[in-house]
Amino acid sequence: MTLEEILARAPVIPVLVIEDAAHAVPLGRALVAGGLSVLEVTFRTEAAAGAIKAMIAEVEGAIVGAGTVLDAPMRQAAADLGCQFAVSPGLIPGERPQGPVPLLPGVATATELMAGLAAGFELFKLFPANVAGGTGALKAFHSPFAKARFCPTGGVSAANAAEYLALPNVACVGGSWVAPADAVKAGDWDRITRLAREASALRP
Ligand code: 3PG
Repeated sequence: MTLEEILARAPVIPVLVIEDAAHAVPLGRALVAGGLSVLEVTFRTEAAAGAIKAMIAEVEGAIVGAGTVLDAPMRQAAADLGCQFAVSPGLIPGERPQGPVPLLPGVATATELMAGLAAGFELFKLFPANVAGGTGALKAFHSPFAKARFCPTGGVSAANAAEYLALPNVACVGGSWVAPADAVKAGDWDRITRLAREASALRP
């Protein structure tokens, strides 16, 4: 699947920080059951690689990617685990769209966007979206950077996701609100499915 196709699959990409690999499969299943099939597991915990492997093997219908990819070796590691995409909070020097796995790089400014476009990217994570200007920045980017489309992430929630999704240059949004840490810890998968269902209804 191309990155474009992946980002079109659901309006919200859950950003997951998994502390215990045993949570990966029930968490992934709960999100997919609620209609969110594109899952970003951040490379921030020791459990991340095991969680990714388990989700790929056991969560039917999930499209699993790695987040917090900070350099080229981490992009390669995401590919080696079998991820279908990788997300970075920023631009990785020297990285291009073609590579071991499709990469969604982060930008926060016009200058970074220009560097990313020059490297051949057209899909970007706006990060941290609420701090980097939110919907106002995306509206302002649309005219000079007509080719660029975004997945705003960072401070996006049930309260403001619809405003982002209404913009013509927003492909989808990312956020952790659909998998609250307390619900994961408590194994409250039904609550997570409910949150996912609400999120997946944000784009009819
Ligand atoms: C992150 O890097 O943690 C993501 O951008 C998620 O941000 P959020 O917790 O504000 O949704």
